[in-house]
Amino acid sequence: MAYESEIAKRKTFAIIAHPDAGKTTLTEKFLLFGGQIQTAGAVKSNKITKATTSDFMEIEKQRGISVATSVMTFPYKEKWINILDTPGHKDFAEDTYRTLTAVDSVILVIDCVKGVEEQTEKLMEVCRMRNHPVIVFVNKMDRDGKDPFDLLEELEIKLNIAVHPMTWPINGGRDFKGVYLMSNHSLNLFESSKTKVTDDVVKIKGLEDPKIDSLLNKKDAAKLREDIELIDGVYGKLSDEDYLNAKTAPIFFGSALNSFGIQELLDTFIEIAPNPLARATTKRNVEPNEPKFSGFVFKIHANLDPKHRDRIAFLRVCSGKFERNKNFTHVRLNKQMKFANPYLFLAQSKEVMNDAYPGDVVGLYDTGNFKIGDTLSEGEHFMFKGIPSFSPEIFKELINIDPMKSKQLEKGIQQLTDEGLASLFVQELGNRKFVGTVGELQFEVLQYRLEHEYGAKCRFESRSIYKACWIEGLEQNLKDFMKYRQNNIAYDKDERPVFLAETGFILRMAEEKYPDISFYTSNEFSV
Ligand code: G4P
Repeated sequence: MAYESEIAKRKTFAIIAHPDAGKTTLTEKFLLFGGQIQTAGAVKSNKITKATTSDFMEIEKQRGISVATSVMTFPYKEKWINILDTPGHKDFAEDTYRTLTAVDSVILVIDCVKGVEEQTEKLMEVCRMRNHPVIVFVNKMDRDGKDPFDLLEELEIKLNIAVHPMTWPINGGRDFKGVYLMSNHSLNLFESSKTKVTDDVVKIKGLEDPKIDSLLNKKDAAKLREDIELIDGVYGKLSDEDYLNAKTAPIFFGSALNSFGIQELLDTFIEIAPNPLARATTKRNVEPNEPKFSGFVFKIHANLDPKHRDRIAFLRVCSGKFERNKNFTHVRLNKQMKFANPYLFLAQSKEVMNDAYPGDVVGLYDTGNFKIGDTLSEGEHFMFKGIPSFSPEIFKELINIDPMKSKQLEKGIQQLTDEGLASLFVQELGNRKFVGTVGELQFEVLQYRLEHEYGAKCRFESRSIYKACWIEGLEQNLKDFMKYRQNNIAYDKDERPVFLAETGFILRMAEEKYPDISFYTSNEFSV
């Protein structure tokens, strides 16, 4: 049992939300409560200072989105918390899905005015696929939002998960008085403050306590008693097991902007959220307390300085201890590698670190060795599974418009797609390159970076492709199909054949005509 105490300390999670629900504000308040930053606004202003350091990041700033998935680590009450931030913009959804492979649980932020939104549903689908335990934070209670009972129902129906209120709001909007804490019968009265770091909770002795009447007006006190009786009757006590098995989502109400309801959320989170969990590989399940190190790369980030082409690979430690300057095996390349300057991402800076434990995220300088999904181990040959690659939704052909810079373009597109910014499919015939993304934005980012980082000029021409389907079957069947559909066959970055179906109808016809071949619209990077 190696490193048990280190593992028991760690909580690695992501905050997910539809854009504008309050993810950035909540993250910032976590850091504030964790004593990592002193001023509200620091997380956002950090985004802007970064943006001014490079032209590429300027695109982000102008569009008001965070393309980068960053990592923030901080200690809180004896625990070591790793928050993996996810881009809210839907064009970068795949980036978010990959980040979710590196966490053990999630906090989902909902705007009480808007309820469950489009991205909320999509993100929850991915969480369900991965069986991630979910805690929900209903934000912006200082605004006139939906009725909380209606919200509970909406969450249950749209997110397909049982809910369990841990706190309960007393009114909302201008009339918001605070929340009742179900677990320890106390009242947290609302007070608007952007900087406070503790909640002043009033202990009460159950619903009959006359303190309630002295703190609330008659109508609010009566409504609170009625609501709580109803909730107690329906929900009872939270089953930790149901939460950990992703069957029930505990719900908190608050206002991130007003630092309200954060402490009870954080305190419950560190108590019930899972510590680093076991992960599946191509060979076996790897337990975090195994003595030998292993981990995988879930994100590659371009260096913010366009003069240096090196990148940072984000590695999630899955077992054992990662050590600086120690030799590890890069499984795909079957190569020994050691890292002189691995990074630990603290709340607002990154620092060279000496060791890291399961649940931690390490930043590795990369000169082109890593692809998303790569595994590092202490000798054993396996690859971590479950890093999804979905069929893109928009396809364009890459056209070189400066023949003198073909090499640069080739290198650039290979490296940028290694980062996971887009998928690349190359046809044997004529070496035609099709780039697939989930949103238009990536094409602009690609074009910009190819020109500014690699000096290569290109154009993207739309192609009517409905889906990229990975194909599988017996060798002869595959050969026949690929010969027959030669013009629609390309290879992904792992040299796996892909059928580029022009329409849903054509795909269905192919499935009917070739029953011995399986067509997949999503695949895993690891084999
Ligand atoms: P995101 O990362 O999920 O996209 O959301 P973000 O935290 O940036 O919040 C989106 C907007 O909602 C911000 O306003 C933020 O101040 C506001 N907000 C967050 N929490 C609360 C809350 O509890 N109550 C209220 N009333 N508003 C909240 P903005 O005007 O877009 O940005 P800013 O100018 O305030 O920075």
